This record gives sequence, structure tokens and C-alpha cells, in this order.
Amino acid sequence: MGNSSAPPKQFLSDKVGFFTESVIRDMTRQAALYGAVNLAQGFPDFPAPAEIKLAAQEAIAEDVNQYAITWGSKNLRNAIARHMWECQGISVDPETQITVCCGSTEAMISILLATCNQGDEVVIFEPFYENYGPDSILSGAKPRFVKLRPPSTEDGEWTFDARELRAAFHSQTKAIIVNTPNNPTGKVFTRAELELIRDLCVEFNVLAITDEIYQHILYDGTQHISIATLDGMRERTVTISGMSKTFSVTGWRVGWTVAPPATTNAIRKVHDFLTVGAPAPLQEAGAVALAMPASYYLSLAEGYRKRRDRLMPALTEAGFRCFHPRGAYYVMTDISGFGFVDDVEFTKYLVKEIGVAAVPGSSFYRDPKNGARQVRFAFCKKDETLDAAATRLRKLRK
Ligand SMILES: Cc1ncc(COP(=O)(O)O)c(C=O)c1O
Repeated sequence: MGNSSAPPKQFLSDKVGFFTESVIRDMTRQAALYGAVNLAQGFPDFPAPAEIKLAAQEAIAEDVNQYAITWGSKNLRNAIARHMWECQGISVDPETQITVCCGSTEAMISILLATCNQGDEVVIFEPFYENYGPDSILSGAKPRFVKLRPPSTEDGEWTFDARELRAAFHSQTKAIIVNTPNNPTGKVFTRAELELIRDLCVEFNVLAITDEIYQHILYDGTQHISIATLDGMRERTVTISGMSKTFSVTGWRVGWTVAPPATTNAIRKVHDFLTVGAPAPLQEAGAVALAMPASYYLSLAEGYRKRRDRLMPALTEAGFRCFHPRGAYYVMTDISGFGFVDDVEFTKYLVKEIGVAAVPGSSFYRDPKNGARQVRFAFCKKDETLDAAATRLRKLRK
């Protein structure tokens, strides 16, 4: 018999006290609640390519319905290796260097669990994709943030201070997370910036974990560079990518890691016990998707360029200051002109009174104060959706 006067037992780990639920995904629920146009979460509201949907249907009909090999179907691993070679000139052994996961989300946590010990530090640029903070905590690592500073002009680039980055590296640093093209800023890291990161990784013997999920979504002539292609980085890089953004199938949950064999072995062990494997028929469709011609990727980027150029003037007209994205499908904005207390109050007003859901900037920063003047909009939406948002946003002017 328990002691009835004892306080009710809390069956919670300490870890979960250190982070909140995803603000991005909560905004999607709020959009549904208030009937708002959802420019919060980064998922397309237009159809995925017909040929890959057909490939998934065929795989199910052909009974590819049991567990795939835990680290990924051979067809998909071969296709990923071919894609890495064609896009980046990186040659990869599909047998020993690729792990297919349930999205790049699972890829990131599997990598961190496979590489970090308690007390290790992971350098993260902020603002950051919100999963990286909790991922570090769950893996026992301590996130160490380095600021990306917004441009001072409409057309400028987000930058970091090389001295601040260097100061973040020391003997406890295990890894740095690089996300290029970047969510939420739209920054595409330049070769010079990646070389600077490379030099620090080599000097301090640090692993680069690079989230390249938006690798094909680039604007204004920018070029995507995988840090693994830089001299000295192949042996100390884990590259993450996936199907979600490139093929407009965020619900399929297929992503992957590319890493040297010893790191891959460790990632595969974690992945196996976390999820066993990604959906088998969708992996087969992934192999078909990755065989699409180069023209597919060009029209993907051009489609997003048009959407960006449709939404940005509407945001500017409504009173936002936009930071011009060079890649990915988000616009970070400055909301100082509206006179709200902070980003959270503003996005609440936006979703309830104006009918548009966006993501408060603070969710991309460790200290909410740093994002209190910023709000992120996703433009991976149909023209009608963007136009409906623009019409509603005009009300902000009144
Ligand atoms: C930078 C970044 N990484 C990873 C993800 C999640 O990707 P996946 O659907 O492959 O888990 C997102 C989704 O928004 C993202 O923006």
C-alpha cells in the first residue's frame, strides 16, 4: 500500500522539462481551429508528382509491405548514392555509408544519439530549426548557440561573426550542425563560410552534421555546397537529406544519412532500435523519385521562386520588413512596424483576427527575446493559398 498522503508521483523524465512541444506544429493546429490560412508549417498544399505517387501505389500492390532492410531498401540506397554523385560529385558506398530513416527528423536524433556523450557540446547557428535544441538535449549534449545576424538591408545576407564561431569551439565540442539552405532564414552558406567551419572542425576534431533537406530549393543563382565536398571533411561529416521537401511528400517520412562506415554503423544501431525502418513501399517510390531528370529540380526551384516573389510583396505591403531568402521556402520578417509587445502576441492576433497562421520568431531562438521582433512565413503553398493570405494580410494596414 502506498502512503496516501504522499504527493502524486510524476512519471516524467527531467529531460522533457527542458523543452516544449513544437511551436511550428502547434501553429498548424491553431490554423485549423481558427480557419486561418496556414503559412506556418513547411508542408506543400499542392500535389506530389504523379509518377512517384504511382510508384508508391505499385509498390503496395506488388506487396512491398513488410519491413525493409533496417538501414534502407537496396534500391533506395543505390539511388541515393547515384544522386550524391550526380549532384555533389561525392562517391558513396550504399552498403556501408547510407542509412535510410523515418525522415531527416529521425536521422538527426539518430546521429546525435550515436555520436554524443553526456556533456558533449554541439554548436548550432541560431535562429535554428526548432528540432535541433530538443534533439541535443535528448542525446545528452549541450547546445552552444552562435548567432546568425539579419541583414541590415532588404537584399543583404544573414551572416555570422567568425570570432564568435571560433569562441564556441573547444575541447568539449563534439559536433556542429549546419543547415544549408537554412530554415528559418533562407540563408545559403557560401563556400568561404563553409571553409571557415571546415577549418575549425579540423582544428578541434569536430564532426559536421549537415542538414541539406532544402538542397534543391535555391534562388538568385545561389549554389548549394555540401560541406562533405571540402578537403578534409569526408571523414568528419554526416550529411542528411530526404524526400519531404524535394518531392513534396512530408507525410511519407523518408530521409537518410550519408556518413563514413564507422559512423554509419553507430547510426544504424540507434536507428534500428528507434524505428526499425522507414516505410518500405515509400522507399521504393523514393528510388523512382531520385531517378527523375535534372529538369525536375530546376522546375521545383523555379516554382518556389515564383511563390516567394508572390508572397514577399504582399508581406511588404502589409507592413512587414522581409529578409530575402536565397533558398528553402520561408521568409523571415521583422514585425517592429506593427507595435506589438512581442512575436507571440502578434502571431496570436494574426491567426485569430486576421486569419493567417505564421510562426513566432522566438521559437527559433534559445532566448525568446532574440526572436521577439521576428515572424516566419512558409510559401510552399498554392497560388490561391498565397493570394488568400495576401488579401487577409491587407487588413493589417487598417
Ligand atoms: C531544416 C529542416 N530539417 C528537417 C526537417 C524535417 O524533415 P523531414 O520531413 O525529412 O523529417 C525540416 C522540416 O521543416 C526542416 O526545415
